[in-house]
Amino acid sequence: MTEKINFSKYNYALKMLETEVDILLQEFTIHHGYNPVEHVKSRIKTEQSIQNKLKEKNLEYNERNVLLHVPDVVGLRIVVSFLSDVYDIVALIHNSHNIIIKKRKDYIANPKESGYTSYHLLVLVPIYLENHVEYVEAEIQIRTIAMDFWASIDHKIRYKFPDVIPPDVSKALENYAEDIKELDKKMYYLNKIMNNYQENL
Ligand code: GTP
Ligand code: MG
Repeated sequence: MTEKINFSKYNYALKMLETEVDILLQEFTIHHGYNPVEHVKSRIKTEQSIQNKLKEKNLEYNERNVLLHVPDVVGLRIVVSFLSDVYDIVALIHNSHNIIIKKRKDYIANPKESGYTSYHLLVLVPIYLENHVEYVEAEIQIRTIAMDFWASIDHKIRYKFPDVIPPDVSKALENYAEDIKELDKKMYYLNKIMNNYQENL
């Protein structure tokens, strides 16, 4: 028998996180006169996907194991235009009085073996229950549109090869991750040039 898990607190945490991030981003846009965000996406991990993740780790599907071993039941992804925007958004979240950063994983400075790049934050989100405050874990992924393009195609390809991905395919993906990195750098410098033009108008 699989245990029935109560998802309410994850749903509350997602609402809190969405609202907090939305307000932070609006404030950022007002203060800087610039909106760095291309899009924001959020989701609650499906029960099936949680079960699969625990199965991979040889763990039983129950509330305690989800709490201890699945830190991304609540997930939010912020996709921005430029490389520098990623770090501005990390600083913005760091300065939030509501979200607590538990762990940072800078896969831009240290890409994963696959070539995957993004900045991940493991955070704690407060939810205000009837008699107490609880903190729920969530994962925030921050990346550029170029990184998002790569991750999206990579995800689709990996889905087609659930066991082992052919070496030429994984090699190609690794190479394209390098191309993405170069393009992000070029766009970053282009943006700097554009900003200089505007300052001198
Ligand atoms: P590891 O033990 O290093 O795998 O860490 P983890 O799986 O506990 O967390 P991690 O921060 O590495 O990754 C969590 C999420 O990042 C995944 O659910 C994906 O959304 C994304 N991710 C990580 N690696 C890849 C990758 O190679 N390709 C794609 N498309 N997404 C990835
Ligand atoms: Mg992983």
